[in-house]
Amino acid sequence: MPHSVRAVVARAKGQPVTIETIEVPDPGPGEVLVAVKACGVCHTDLHYREGAINDEFPFLLGHEAAGIVEEVGPDVTEVAVGDFVVLNWRAVCGQCRSCRRGRPWYCFATHNASQKMTLDGQELSPALGIGAFAEKTLVAAGQATKVDSAAPAEVAGLIGCGVMAGLGAAMNTGDVGRGDSVAVFGCGGVGDAAIAGARLAGAHTIVAVDLDDRKLEMAREFGATHTVNSSNEDPVEAIRAVTGGNGVDVAIDAVGLPVTYQQAFNARDLAGTVVLVGVPNPEATLELQMIEVFGRGGTLKSSWYGDCLPSRDFPMLIDLYLQGRLDLDRFVSETIALDEVEEAFHKMERGEVLRSVVVL
Ligand SMILES: NC(=O)c1ccc[n+]([C@@H]2O[C@H](COP(=O)([O-])OP(=O)(O)OC[C@H]3O[C@@H](n4cnc5c(N)ncnc54)[C@H](O)[C@@H]3O)[C@@H](O)[C@H]2O)c1
Ligand SMILES: [Zn+2]
Ligand SMILES: [Zn+2]
Repeated sequence: MPHSVRAVVARAKGQPVTIETIEVPDPGPGEVLVAVKACGVCHTDLHYREGAINDEFPFLLGHEAAGIVEEVGPDVTEVAVGDFVVLNWRAVCGQCRSCRRGRPWYCFATHNASQKMTLDGQELSPALGIGAFAEKTLVAAGQATKVDSAAPAEVAGLIGCGVMAGLGAAMNTGDVGRGDSVAVFGCGGVGDAAIAGARLAGAHTIVAVDLDDRKLEMAREFGATHTVNSSNEDPVEAIRAVTGGNGVDVAIDAVGLPVTYQQAFNARDLAGTVVLVGVPNPEATLELQMIEVFGRGGTLKSSWYGDCLPSRDFPMLIDLYLQGRLDLDRFVSETIALDEVEEAFHKMERGEVLRSVVVL
């Protein structure tokens, strides 16, 4: 029997989201039904609502979630009914050319549920293949990772997207190490997680760049050693000034605009690394002096989901949280109800929150 549940849907480009009753099928082979307990509001949900990801409306939003496995389909062995799980949007296949080469974090054929959730008979496009602003959601078994249930759901869910993307941008993609200098452009949930990741990895200089002083204050709490408000100061010069004139070893763009990417590119030391974790608008183009690309050397990388492996990284990060070594509580600005997601988007746009988290 399909399940009728309340959910947050974006019906048309740029329009406010609405609460709808959707139909969620029973899990088929390789699928699990998850009772969602909490789901964070990520900027990527807003990108979907704005039509900046693709035009496959209606979208079932929400993808940064934790919940309890309620039903499992035939042949599911990864998780069992009652497990406390964090959902992920890159369930690796183990078969594609990247997985076979031993690089599963780049998997080119990640798994989602094969059955569709629907609204009035119309197929929904779940955000990042999850769709968790809903009382229940259907995902591929590999999208649910069991973690220690001692962690509160509103905190655990954040590992499922923004926090993992940011931590991983620093620790996995940027490979920040002991004594490195790091700059992070954009101090929202993703950028602050990159700052926390850089600190955890042993960086000794961490420069936070944002346009908003409130965000810079929060960035300090996550471990930024210096802050730059780039609306009134040139961030490249400011970063050079605190790194002996050299620039940073790793520059992380957690905004995804041409201007922030160029700043990250130019704020980097010779042979340094640029990591793009902010998601650019499809229309955005980038102009760089090619001689600078050559002359500065180093590496220009993108970070898909922090180059994480959910089965390896999620339980570890939850354990670090439970040991008091990773402050995830600080990311939760407020907990809200399902019908407050539209207002949470506006709070995000006004820079008032790091994460609003829907609690069900
Ligand atoms: N790569 C991934 O796997 C992945 C995963 C999750 C989110 N993201 C993306 O990461 C980005 C950040 O997400 P978020 O949830 O932290 O968003 P957010 O809106 O909470 O934070 C963005 C921050 O950037 C700042 N900012 C905006 N323009 C700026 C500029 N020109 N210079 C400096 N700072 C500027 C804002 O003040 C804000 O503090 C988004 O593009 C999101 O889609 C990527
Ligand atoms: Zn997200
Ligand atoms: Zn694969």
